[in-house]
Amino acid sequence: MGMTDEEEIEKLPGVGPAILEKLKEAGYNDLMMIAVDTPKNLAEVAEIGESTAAKIIAAAKKAADVGGFETGDVILERRKTVAKLTSGSKALDELMGGGFETRAITEFFGEFGSGKTQLCHQLAVNATMPTSEGGLEGHTFMIDTEQTFRPERITQMAEAKELDPDDILKKIHVARAFNSHHQTLLVDKAFEMAKEFPVKMLVVDSLTAHFRAEYIGRGALAERQQMLNKHMHDLLRFGDVHNAVIAVTNQVAAKPDAFFGDPTRPIGGHIVGHTATFRIYLRKSKGGKRIARLIDSPNLPEAEAVFQVSEAGISD
Ligand code: GTP
Ligand code: MG
Repeated sequence: MGMTDEEEIEKLPGVGPAILEKLKEAGYNDLMMIAVDTPKNLAEVAEIGESTAAKIIAAAKKAADVGGFETGDVILERRKTVAKLTSGSKALDELMGGGFETRAITEFFGEFGSGKTQLCHQLAVNATMPTSEGGLEGHTFMIDTEQTFRPERITQMAEAKELDPDDILKKIHVARAFNSHHQTLLVDKAFEMAKEFPVKMLVVDSLTAHFRAEYIGRGALAERQQMLNKHMHDLLRFGDVHNAVIAVTNQVAAKPDAFFGDPTRPIGGHIVGHTATFRIYLRKSKGGKRIARLIDSPNLPEAEAVFQVSEAGISD
């Protein structure tokens, strides 16, 4: 085993205990984060001189595995390990090219009641199912920021699939996040927990609610985007390390929002948009029906699928 990132950061020339503490507080727990930072920014967060910051960054660049170029065949080999999780709706699975991909972030955005949380519950249940049935044979970790996790819904969905609800509930681990900082810390906790449980799915519902509530006004925008950006990259890394599905939700305001402008756009703007691998816009339709529109995907066409939310969960 190599050194942990913290040990590596500690070893960087110029990083003493006080600076290490400042870096940790600011969320720099990854060598790469320092390596790609600007001296000006690092100087600010660690309360050090810019020249010291520049030296630390240079050392981090040397120490970090910046990665390199890989040939397409190597990447294709890795792509083959990507698994696909069923949603319970054939139409929705088809929209996603056969299911929800591991090693990727899927963002559900839409207004209240559009089905974001229901989908997260269903994917949590489905992730526990055998791969022969479109599952991932794993556990789900859920970061619940709005306290909308309902074990009763899990029970209903499990029963509809003739699964033992108690068995499924034991495989779904839920943490409440009390604020955005806590939310980001829970990803570190998830990495810890993943040593104990075979996790295949991580949900953050809602990704943006705390950020939206805490970072108010134009002045806070840059900081909010920076925190969200780091959070998203931590999530992506989790998905990659554990070959897991990452699902996040993002509410769009139903009416115009003085701070965030265009009501039809999800908050988090381009940061969330560019980091999410797949973005699905959800809207309500008649009689419990929902319409999912795949907005952004690296390899799939923009298209729509209709699915149903009922007591039994998600279906066609
Ligand atoms: P916000 O978190 O408020 O942004 O909304 P959301 O997109 O997460 O909505 P959610 O997934 O919670 O959807 C709630 C809707 O799902 C309800 O208004 C119902 O239409 C539907 N729903 C939830 N549970 C049931 C159920 O047991 N039976 C049926 N038929 N519908 C349900
Ligand atoms: Mg919800």
